[in-house]
Amino acid sequence: MLSPPFIEPSMRKRTVILISGRGSNMMSLVEAAAEPGYPAEVAAVIANRPDAAGIPWAAARGIHTRIIDHKAYAGREPFEAALHDTLTELSAQIVCLAGFMRVLTAGFVERWQGRMINIHPSLLPSFKGLDTHARALKAGVRIAGCTVHFVVPEMDAGPIIAQAAVPVAETDTTEDLAARVLKAEHQLYPHALSLVASGHARMSGSRVLWSGEHSIPAEALVVPSPS
Ligand code: GRF
Repeated sequence: MLSPPFIEPSMRKRTVILISGRGSNMMSLVEAAAEPGYPAEVAAVIANRPDAAGIPWAAARGIHTRIIDHKAYAGREPFEAALHDTLTELSAQIVCLAGFMRVLTAGFVERWQGRMINIHPSLLPSFKGLDTHARALKAGVRIAGCTVHFVVPEMDAGPIIAQAAVPVAETDTTEDLAARVLKAEHQLYPHALSLVASGHARMSGSRVLWSGEHSIPAEALVVPSPS
C-alpha cells in the first residue's frame, strides 16, 4: 500500500464492512486500519449470513460485529431497511462491500451513493458478475486484476477508484489465478479505502474526482512484476 497522509485519530472515517463469507478482504482492511495515521477506522463488520467465517475473526480482534440474516426478512426491502438502520445507528460514514453476496436495490444504493465502495475480482469493465477468473482464462487475457469502485445501482459498474493488474500464466488454473488476484485485492482495497476516507477520491457523477497530491489517477495503479 502507498503511504496515506497523516490523519488525526478523531478525523478517521467510521467505516462499516459488509461480508458474506471468509472475509479475507475485510481482514486486510482491519489490518490497514490498525496502522497509525490510516484515515479510516473499522466501526463494525456486518454479515448477512450467520456462518460467515470472517465474523469470529473480527470479534476476536475486539471489533463490533453484527449478523443481519437476510433469510430472516420477508424480502430484499425489509432486509435493506434493517441494514440501513444499523448503518445509521453505527454512524457509518463509509460502507465497504467485501465479498458481500447480496444484490442491493437501487433505493438502498442511492441512499449510500458516494459513501459505499466494493471490490471486484476483475479489471472492470471486463468480466462483471460471477466466475470472473474462469471467464478471464477462457478469454485468454494476459493480464487480470481487481477493481475497487463506488457502488451504483447497476452491478459492478460504478466509478473506478483503483485497479491492480496481475499477469496470467500459461499454466494457470482458475484457483491459481484467483489466488494471485486475491493477493492483489488485499493490497488494493486498503489503498482505495485510504483514498476515499482521506477525501482524495470522491464520486462525481460517473467519474471519480481527485484532489491534492492524488490528482494523478495513475497513482491508483499497482504495477505488477511478473512472477
Ligand atoms: C473477493 O474475491 C472479492 O473480490 C469478491 O468476493 C471475494 C471475497 O473474498 N467480491 P473474501 O471474503 O474477501 O475473502
